[in-house]
Formats: sequence, structure tokens, C-alpha cells
Amino acid sequence: MADDTLIAVKEAIASTAKVDEAKRRAMAERATSDPEGFWREEMRRVAWMREPTKIKNTSFEGDVSIKWFEDGELNASVSCLDRHIEAGRGDQVSILWEGDDPNSDSRTTYRELHARVCRLANAMRRLGVRKGDRVCIYLPMIVEAAVAMLACARIGAVHSIVFGGFSPDSLASRIQDSECTLLITADEGRRGGRKVPLKTNADEALKTCPSIRHVIVAKNTGTAVAMQEGRDLDWAALCDREAEICEPERMNAEDPLFILYTSGSTGKPKGVLHTTGGYMVWASFTHDLVFDYRPGEIYWCTADVGWVTGHTYIVYGPLANGATTLMFEGVPSWPDSGRFWQVVDKHGVNIFYTAPTAIRALMRDGEEPVKKHKRSSLRVLGSVGEPINPEAWLWYYRVVGDERCPVVDTWWQTETGGILISPLPGAVAQKPGSATLPLPGVQPALVDGDGKLLEGAAEGNLVITDSWPGQMRTVYGDHARFVQTYFSTFKGMYFTGDGARRDADGYYWITGRVDDVINVAGHRMGTAEVESALVAHPKVAEAAVVGMPHDLKGQGIYCYVTLVAGEEPTEALRKELVAWVRKEIGPIATPDAIQWAPGLPKTRSGKIMRRILRKIAANETDSLGDTSTLADPAVVEELVENRVGR
Ligand code: PRX
Repeated sequence: MADDTLIAVKEAIASTAKVDEAKRRAMAERATSDPEGFWREEMRRVAWMREPTKIKNTSFEGDVSIKWFEDGELNASVSCLDRHIEAGRGDQVSILWEGDDPNSDSRTTYRELHARVCRLANAMRRLGVRKGDRVCIYLPMIVEAAVAMLACARIGAVHSIVFGGFSPDSLASRIQDSECTLLITADEGRRGGRKVPLKTNADEALKTCPSIRHVIVAKNTGTAVAMQEGRDLDWAALCDREAEICEPERMNAEDPLFILYTSGSTGKPKGVLHTTGGYMVWASFTHDLVFDYRPGEIYWCTADVGWVTGHTYIVYGPLANGATTLMFEGVPSWPDSGRFWQVVDKHGVNIFYTAPTAIRALMRDGEEPVKKHKRSSLRVLGSVGEPINPEAWLWYYRVVGDERCPVVDTWWQTETGGILISPLPGAVAQKPGSATLPLPGVQPALVDGDGKLLEGAAEGNLVITDSWPGQMRTVYGDHARFVQTYFSTFKGMYFTGDGARRDADGYYWITGRVDDVINVAGHRMGTAEVESALVAHPKVAEAAVVGMPHDLKGQGIYCYVTLVAGEEPTEALRKELVAWVRKEIGPIATPDAIQWAPGLPKTRSGKIMRRILRKIAANETDSLGDTSTLADPAVVEELVENRVGR
């Protein structure tokens, strides 16, 4: 796709948008030239108990310290609930829930959500949960997930959500790392007509989690689950006796709001820590600007609350802005591939935000399942999680949006708290496949391998040169890892781990990760995690994992496995290893290809040359590059010959 495919902002959209091109420019200029003044105004989007006088105090040098609004006090749940009720919007629907089963849905008003949050918050306090304590949430996409998050926020407990698709082992290691004292889960989840055994998984995980004192179990499918006397408590029975009013904890702007584990290039997933003030301002600011949200609209983000997108754009952003946020328990393909559009028509969805992997999967089924539904309520379409290929972008724009709706391709990360690079619907002309321009207050740059800033049209490593309020503050329990991971590659800059190209118009085109992180169907994974799962199998001596191009998932998981001497590489063992990785990490880590590797390409110092393994997995074997530094070049020939064809 040529860079010059420019889809101009339609006049009708520009003239009604909150932010048009001139306003966007003015905001961007002000945010850069006078960040203090800019954020002093923008911070008023959230409800402060004590308004900050200090705005920005950040340094990317040395020990790295990031503080925003540091003498302010607030409670995130008040911004999301109380103030909307006080403003007379208590009867508006806050969460519009659509079940996996197309016949089940529910509406929770702001007043009802407030009451449910307060009851649970009171119950948690009664169980001894205090400000600063960590609470693990392992729930499906049910209203209780948002209630649990906000109840934690209410009492100052730090939530750590673990995606319901993660295995007991993955759940356990996250609980252990942050020493959670309470786990909130459900009997079972539902997805695409199938059940997910959450409580059974939790019981398995808790065998190795001595820090957990109580487990609150929400009834969802109603199936009978084991309840351990003294530890496990039924959500409804517990909350029924609690009051609907709960005094919110006064939180400093820099007190933690949540931890969310995410994968990096090395080691175990790290606990990304976000604090209260800056994160809430960023969530509200970006949700408002990027989606041009208007009161009364129905807004739907199809992510799961287990990922950052669900945190910021299902719960905190939309609720801070008093929106009606649709929460969907199901999947795009069940009962059929028209499900998204059926839900759009059923609820009159105006803003729709999903992932490229879903768009590509639906595209495969053709236009008919889309065209069967009217979709006339749609106004803005969004994309997130991975690069969107121009073909999928155009399909989304033409077929789903009937060329009426701007597409906002939003680039950001768990670490950034919210969107950093994206078009604004009424202000930025679009180019299919480009995340376009930074939001006001965001200063991206490209650097070469030596950290030299690249000017004009260029391609390089994507860095951010100054702080924004929603930035992560540290890796939970390991500040040195935070500094090392994000600020040591290029001194004085936040390194995103992504590569990008900037065209002559200053538009950014994200090219994908430049580290050992892969993006499988929008799910972020460290190749090191899959490798350590593989080598934990008694028959595996060594493993190297890389991403490979995948039509639907963006990237697939390609594993090179060396067996211990004497083990036979059989089809049965291959299947066993696939099942093993699923069990160790979860179904999202299911290997797409396993190649038996009698040897791996290593340098003379023993370092695996992943560049070569990536090329083989991608079937780009005629451009392997320099292999002269290999200890044993013959290894490569063997691997090329026995590449797993797709
Ligand atoms: O590689 C980028 C890709 O997803 C990574 C962040 O993953 P995660 O922390 O799980 O957050 C996903 C949801 C924000 C990034 O480093 N990514 C995310 N959005 C885009 C993207 N790549 C290209 N275009 C995007 N719009």
C-alpha cells in the first residue's frame, strides 16, 4: 500500500467533532510548549478530593522517576461513579452487558453499579483488605469483573487481573509475585458456547499460593464447585449483608491503582504498575479524544478485561467519561460470524473498537455476514493490539463502516496506560495501515541502533522522549528491571520495543516488535516464556521459539525443539508438547509449528542466532544473511531442509 493513499476527514465529521484539525494542532503545541498549563486544565476531567498544585515531575535519567500530580488526592471509583450520580446521571446505563448466549444481556445503571461496588468494597474491608494490599482478579467477562476492579479502587487495594485463559501455573506465578491476599473468581466462564473452569483452575493454582487468605467466588454458570471452608466465600451471600455506601479511600495521585503482568524479551512476565492520578487523567483524555465520545452514545470495546485494553477502554476511560460501555462475554465467531454486527444492531452501538486479528478472521467469511445487519448506528471504528494490514483496514472501513466511519488505528502498550499514537476522527486524515500522528502531549521519535535521533522520513526504533501522565511508574517489586528494560537501550528515552517508519507527512507506521516479544492474535507473549515451558518437559533438551507470519493471527508461534539423547521425535510427542505448553501457560500460547532440531544455530560463544531462526520460520531462506560467525553452519542447512511447511 502506497503511503499516499490518504483518506481525508469528511467535512460532516470535522464540523461536528469535538476536536478538529486546528484544535488538535493547538492542543499539541500547547502540550509541548507548556505541559504544566496544559495538564493543569486537562486534569480537571477527573474528580479530585484535593486538587494537585504540582503537575509534572519526571526524569528518564539515572534511577528514572515519574510523578504526575504528586500532591493531588482522589479515588478512581469516585471519578467513575459517584460524580455521575451527583450530576443526575444515576439512572443512565453504565455497563451494558451482552452474554455469550445471544439471548442473555443486562443493563446496570450508574446508581446500581455504585451500590454493587460499595457492597463488595465493604465486604473486602471486613475481610481485612487494606489500602495497598494486592487483590488478584481471575474472572470472565461479566459485570462482576468491573465491580471487582472498582471495589478495589474504592478501598485503595491494588488489583492484578489475570486473563481467564491463563493456566493455573500462570495464575499462581502472578499471585506469588505480588503476594496477593485475596482472589476474586467465578465458578466458570463462558466463551463461544464452551465453559472455562475458573474455580477449578484457581484451586489448582492456590496449592502454591500461601499469601491468599480468602477467595470470593461469583456464581456465573451456577455449576457446583468445591468451596474450601474458611477460605472460599460466595460473592452474593457475602455482599447481600453489606451496605450500599462505602467511604472511598483518599488516595495520593501516585498511589498504585493496579498491576498488570505483561511479557517481555526475557524472564517471567513483569508486573506493570500504574498509579491513580496520571492513569485516570490519561484514560479519560484519550477515550474522549480518540473516540470523540459524546454523551448518550453506546461505546463497545471488544477486548477482555484481562488485558490493558479492557482496563483502560472498557472500564476506567469510558466510566470516567460517564459513557455507556458495552461488555461482551462472547467471541466474534459464535454462534456465527455475524455476531459483532448483530450486537451492534441490537444495542445501537455507535463506537466500536476491536483487534485486527478479529477483522482478518471475519474478512475470511466474506461480506454477507456483515451486510445482513444494518450497522447504521456506527460512527467511529477503532483498531488496537497489532499492526493492521492495509487490506484489513480497507475492509473494515468499506464493508463494516460503509465508508462513513473514520477508522482510528490506535498504537499503545500495557506500559503506556492508554493510546499514544492514533488519528482523531475529525482531525487527522487517515492512511490505511498507519497509526498516523501522536496524541497531544506525546513525543515519539525514531532512533537508529546507536540511539542517534533520525529526522524526517525514516525507519528505526520507536522511542518516546518525554513522559505523559498515563505512563507506567515501575515494575512491581523490581525498579531496576524497569530502568533496565525501558531506559537503558537508549539513554534518557523510553524504548517501546517496537520498530516504526515515519513518512514524509510525519505519519507513523508501526512495523512490529524488534525484541523477542511476539504478538499472537493481539496477545503479547515472550518467546522466552514458551521456551521455558518447553524445556520444562522431561524429553526436551533445548528449545528456541520465534514468531512466524500468520494470515489470521498476525504472528504464529514457531518452536525449534532439541530432544534429550535417545528420545524419538514422533507425531505423538509433538502433540504432547503442544498440549504441554497449553497446560503450562494457557491456550493462547499454543504452538503453531514444532520443528525437531538436532542442533540450533549458535555463535561460537554459544548464543542462539534467532535472526536465522526467524528467517527459516518465515520461509525466507534465501536471505539468511551472514552465517559465517556460526559455530557449526551445517546446522542451518539441516533446519532449512526440514522446515515445517504451513
Ligand atoms: O507491538 C505493539 C503492538 O502491541 C504491543 C503492545 O502489546 P500490549 O502491551 O499487550 O498492549 C496491547 C494493547 C494496547 C506494542 O508494543 N501494538 C499495539 N497496538 C498496535 C500495535 N502495533 C501496531 N499498531 C497498533 N495499533
